[in-house]
Amino acid sequence: MCGIVGYIGRERAGSIMLDGLKRLEYRGYDSSGMVVNAGKGLELIKRTGRVKELEDALDELQLGGNLGISHTRWATHGDVTEANAHPHQSTDGKIYLVHNGVIENYIGMKNFLIEKGYSFKSETDSEALCNLIAYHYGKEEETTAKNRFLEAVRKSLRHVEGTYGIAVICDDYPDELIGARKGSPLIIGIGKGENILASDVNAITHCTQNVVYLNDNEVVHLTNNDFSISTVSSKSVEAVIHQVDWDTSEAELGDYDHYMLKEIHEQPNALKNGMRGRFSDDKSTAVFGGLNLNPQELRQIDRILFIACGTAWHACLIAEYLIERFARIPVEVEYASEFRYRNAPLDKNTLVIAISQSGETIDTLGALREAKRKGYRTLSINNSVGSTIARECDGGIYQHAGPEIGVASTKAFTSQLLICGMLALYLGRLRDLSYGDGVDIVKAFKELPELVQEALKQTAQIEAIAKKYAKYEDCLFLGRQLMFPIALEGALKLKEISYIHAEGYPAAEMKHGPIALISEDCPSVFLATSGEIFHKSLANVQEVKARKGKVICIATADCEIPDGLVDDIILVPECHEIVKPILMSIPVQLLSYYVALERECDVDKPRNLAKSVTVE
Ligand code: AGP
Repeated sequence: MCGIVGYIGRERAGSIMLDGLKRLEYRGYDSSGMVVNAGKGLELIKRTGRVKELEDALDELQLGGNLGISHTRWATHGDVTEANAHPHQSTDGKIYLVHNGVIENYIGMKNFLIEKGYSFKSETDSEALCNLIAYHYGKEEETTAKNRFLEAVRKSLRHVEGTYGIAVICDDYPDELIGARKGSPLIIGIGKGENILASDVNAITHCTQNVVYLNDNEVVHLTNNDFSISTVSSKSVEAVIHQVDWDTSEAELGDYDHYMLKEIHEQPNALKNGMRGRFSDDKSTAVFGGLNLNPQELRQIDRILFIACGTAWHACLIAEYLIERFARIPVEVEYASEFRYRNAPLDKNTLVIAISQSGETIDTLGALREAKRKGYRTLSINNSVGSTIARECDGGIYQHAGPEIGVASTKAFTSQLLICGMLALYLGRLRDLSYGDGVDIVKAFKELPELVQEALKQTAQIEAIAKKYAKYEDCLFLGRQLMFPIALEGALKLKEISYIHAEGYPAAEMKHGPIALISEDCPSVFLATSGEIFHKSLANVQEVKARKGKVICIATADCEIPDGLVDDIILVPECHEIVKPILMSIPVQLLSYYVALERECDVDKPRNLAKSVTVE
């Protein structure tokens, strides 16, 4: 949450940062601001609302200057006001700071600073850190001018409890930019005669492909031609420069109205990329390069614990079904935020797998670190090369789904399901899954992109159905077995972008409580696939119809649904069990998208949300 961009170089800092903020807007979008060294001193400008508001204000000002810091905010402390927007300026006017994270001990810090004569304009925790840096900067008067600014930042950070990704500039140092991180992401883009700080790679690839990933408790000091990294306790750190292999056009909207729709339609390709080079036909299994666990070690694993949040957590539930079914390894799934503080007893042969699209979700990262601290082997499934979670795990599998910009996860979710299915195949083939079963599964995966393309052809029909149901304020999503997590995901998708109250339930659980909600005003979306429990699902549909509930049924084409039983039907192609959750997700996503569109909601930037959740 919150996006940071800082620039030092020869170009106009304002326009480079604005470009970066637009690319980071999915991290937070309630207000934005920047400070630029515009020749005659530092110019500060902030606006509430979207980055567009800041852009309009900047158009009028036409600010020059080659140094600056900027921020797009997702509020944690304090309302959405210009005063609470970043950058913050210290009481003496010298220090400017942008911050992503939470300073947990800011109240004590603030009281201390008020006693020392500092005043506060905002309700944020970030302003306390800004003033603390100013305080230490003032006290450093006696030390050499060369390191005074840097030393003041490092000293202040030693007092911080909580998380931060920060960019700081000082009025007395017009050629220096400082960044630091602990718990919140920050990367350095190394250019020719220019350097950039940003919350993620997306914001810098229009300038450079050379990236340094800052680690926790590290501080970077940047000039336009140089940079150096040290720890908060002033030990120097050797930087490793990575080349990012990122096609910038992938993050463009192109001809689509929304990123969500674009990303829904990108799924056939995202799935192909996730599979590329990862099957051995010979051995009828999947092949992964970065697990860092050999088959012998994997055979000794007797339990897998998946941790994640939100949509990625739903992917974990599918992993549980698939790995238990095809690899016969017991699996547990925990919300990362719960696992982290629960102190659950785990067996020494437990493998912990974190799933995260962004690789930066703080709850998932915190849970992962807790698992590592206890000595468990850790893997991650994630979509962001070089992200903190990817770097901190013992090994992992990249999704290769391409950048996902829409806040509502779509292609990242189905690509997580793909990787989980492939992992179930791989682990199964290391144990009892037969060669023949492996052949069928590999074939099913290879046919999948075509089938998803087929499912996408239902778009017009789904749009028409969405128009009929967009007026309702409540909705249930119901499914059994593999369709239960898809019901949860359907409900999450609908509520997050259309603000309709929706709940996902195992279809049979409905009669243990939620059935009380069924009425003409509360439609149900049933997710039914062929197989031994199909008829049980139909019985649950009957229970809803008997209570005058409207039913949209999403089913595989081989399901025999009696005429007139349901109000609307959406069919996806018949397929192997292992890929059913992926195919059934497509209409669920399209339905949510078109309902939100009908309700005139901001699909890509739903209220109160942010794409990458880097606060607890
Ligand atoms: C879903 O549409 C949301 N974007 C959200 O639930 C998301 O999946 C969750 O915050 C986890 O994010 P991650 O995969 O980047 O860790």
